[in-house]
Amino acid sequence: MLLDWLSYLTTPAPWDARRLGFVRDSIWLQSRSRRCRKAWKPHLDRSRALIAGAVAEIGRGRTAVVLGSGLLDDIPLDRLADSFNSVVLVDMVHPWPARLAARRHPHVGLLTFDLSGCADWMLGRRTEPGLTLPAVCLGGDVDLVVSANVLSQLPILPLDHFCEGEDIMPDLGSRIVSAHLDALAQIGCRICLVTDTVQREEDRSGQVLDRSDLLHGVDAGSPDQEWDWVLAPFGEAARGSRLVHRVHGFSDWRPSR
Ligand SMILES: C[S@@+](CC[C@H](N)C(=O)[O-])C[C@H]1O[C@@H](n2cnc3c(N)ncnc32)[C@H](O)[C@@H]1O
Repeated sequence: MLLDWLSYLTTPAPWDARRLGFVRDSIWLQSRSRRCRKAWKPHLDRSRALIAGAVAEIGRGRTAVVLGSGLLDDIPLDRLADSFNSVVLVDMVHPWPARLAARRHPHVGLLTFDLSGCADWMLGRRTEPGLTLPAVCLGGDVDLVVSANVLSQLPILPLDHFCEGEDIMPDLGSRIVSAHLDALAQIGCRICLVTDTVQREEDRSGQVLDRSDLLHGVDAGSPDQEWDWVLAPFGEAARGSRLVHRVHGFSDWRPSR
């Protein structure tokens, strides 16, 4: 708890990111990832392997952009840094572990950007969502864009902020998810997409108690690989149940919708 407070206070972030809850969520992610290290390892290994496979197929590249870089737990950063002339890590919050890892490579940069396009809208500076990808993604020298376990996260704070979006836009969740995929579809280079899609709550006998669609009805297509991520093992969220996310991995994503 004390460590979380210290991290919260010392994590460099714009005031807007603090005000909207992005820094708080980043600290929660960090402490949960510590507590659930063993349960998360298979998922993080699979994510890193999928991205490393895409990097190996590209060989030597110019710029790689990682969307939702966060703690970098699911990113093979050294591999990317070895293969690309420049690597850009994009997130609303770059926590200290990611900052320290990035500092080891002079050609790895950090970019703070709101990938939901909703931050300025939530702050009352716009009347609708804005851009969902930073300009760097559209640069002619980008050879790889990785969307790293961020897609399902994008609607969470906007939906909370607008009280599930009922009054503002009933389909806000699916709009945000679609906007990310539509923006990826505009990019000419290789796209590597890893996203959780469905959450299951299971009891100790394996019976599914509840199921929710993390992509709000949007279909990202047929994945190359899929696996389970035990997000909250027994005892983390509840003693008698666990939360399991189904993850889809696309090594070379193409829009199929
Ligand atoms: C589940 S984590 C992804 C994990 C990350 N790849 C890692 O290994 O730590 C989701 C990430 O999405 C970021 N995120 C959520 N909403 C965002 C937004 N609107 N714009 C940019 N990043 C966002 C969070 O800050 C967090 O780092």
